[in-house]
Amino acid sequence: MSDQEVEADEYQAVTSVLSSFYNFHTFETNQLINSRIQRFATLSIQDQQLIPWFEQHTQFLQQCIDINRDFCQTLAEKIGQDWGIKVSPSDWVEASHKQFQQTEQTMVKLMRDWSDQGGEERPIGQRLIIAELCKLYQNELERSKTKILVPGCGSGRLVFELVMHGFWTQGNDSSYHALFASGFILNHCQFPHNYSIFPFLASSATSSSKRQNQIRPVTVPDVSPTAHIISAMGREQEKEASLRIHYDELMSITAGSFIELYGVGPSDVNFASQKLRSQSQGEFGVVVTEFSLDAASGNVIDYIRTINNVLKQGGKWINFGPLSLQNGPSDGLNLTRDDLFELVTKLGFEFTVKESGIESTYCGDIKLLQSTVYKCDFWVCTKIDNL
Ligand SMILES: C[S@@+](CC[C@H](N)C(=O)[O-])C[C@H]1O[C@@H](n2cnc3c(N)ncnc32)[C@H](O)[C@@H]1O
Repeated sequence: MSDQEVEADEYQAVTSVLSSFYNFHTFETNQLINSRIQRFATLSIQDQQLIPWFEQHTQFLQQCIDINRDFCQTLAEKIGQDWGIKVSPSDWVEASHKQFQQTEQTMVKLMRDWSDQGGEERPIGQRLIIAELCKLYQNELERSKTKILVPGCGSGRLVFELVMHGFWTQGNDSSYHALFASGFILNHCQFPHNYSIFPFLASSATSSSKRQNQIRPVTVPDVSPTAHIISAMGREQEKEASLRIHYDELMSITAGSFIELYGVGPSDVNFASQKLRSQSQGEFGVVVTEFSLDAASGNVIDYIRTINNVLKQGGKWINFGPLSLQNGPSDGLNLTRDDLFELVTKLGFEFTVKESGIESTYCGDIKLLQSTVYKCDFWVCTKIDNL
């Protein structure tokens, strides 16, 4: 493909995902309002009178959609500017149904990562990960010299937490939805609880005990990353120059497939990505994967090989999450957990910690009448061999 064709493809991908945020209200209205109104109209007057609250609840839903619209349009406008998109939203490429669904999921992921309501589920894995890292690196000044890579970092909460613990941390994600969400929260939210969003409109529509559950808001972000970093920097000013941690220099996020950007195999990535590849080999002290092994399901051997590739000799791979988050596409190998452990060992690692059966939901809604509880694994392994 020529450079121009690549650029046109990228423009199309970026603006269609931006559209899926900017026009999310049209999707939500179609999904949640229009079908309700049509169905209600098919009822006899007598049956309509049996559910007298129905029309008012529909109006409440519309108000929630309007508030989501404010949030999503602000996000799309800010991120469009960050990504150098010059044309106005009305000229962006239209979003597909699937992209709107991904925006819907992103709203729920923002609830998990950046709201008080996510505060029960989120720490189950993150506490284990952070405790292990603090045990490994007790000297806080040393931490800023330790490079951590977080593939599949989603909307970025773990990256932020690791930075606030003093680690140089690079997140990576291949999804524009995730990158836009993390970019907005990490760079554009100066005040905590600045935005109300309604992430449960779709999921609570049919499996809640009370209709109010569907229209309950969450506020995001529960903490402002920029404000936290600025105040941490302020505290550092009181220290001697040689003892200061430069929190503002510790965080970065890369866009693209983990294997493509950090792997060893043949690849058609562009010049900037080639540079990242060559700079990353053997550079990281730690790779942390959190609910992201699914990303490996397409190519588990290359995924682990890539982790080995970026780690220094003696570097650690810390993982938390289930073997598989959903029954998504597999590479046909259908590995069991024991098979995976054996593979990890063959690909140059030695396990030092292995815990299984840690129960956690993912993006769970405690008010739903049903939920999926995953039995998660937590492991730490050390790179002992180059491949
Ligand atoms: C289930 S989410 C987990 C997000 C976050 N780690 C968390 O705990 O909430 C998996 C993430 O991996 C990302 N992902 C999937 N395949 C990927 C790939 N090949 N390279 C980088 N990221 C990938 C997805 O976009 C998604 O954000």
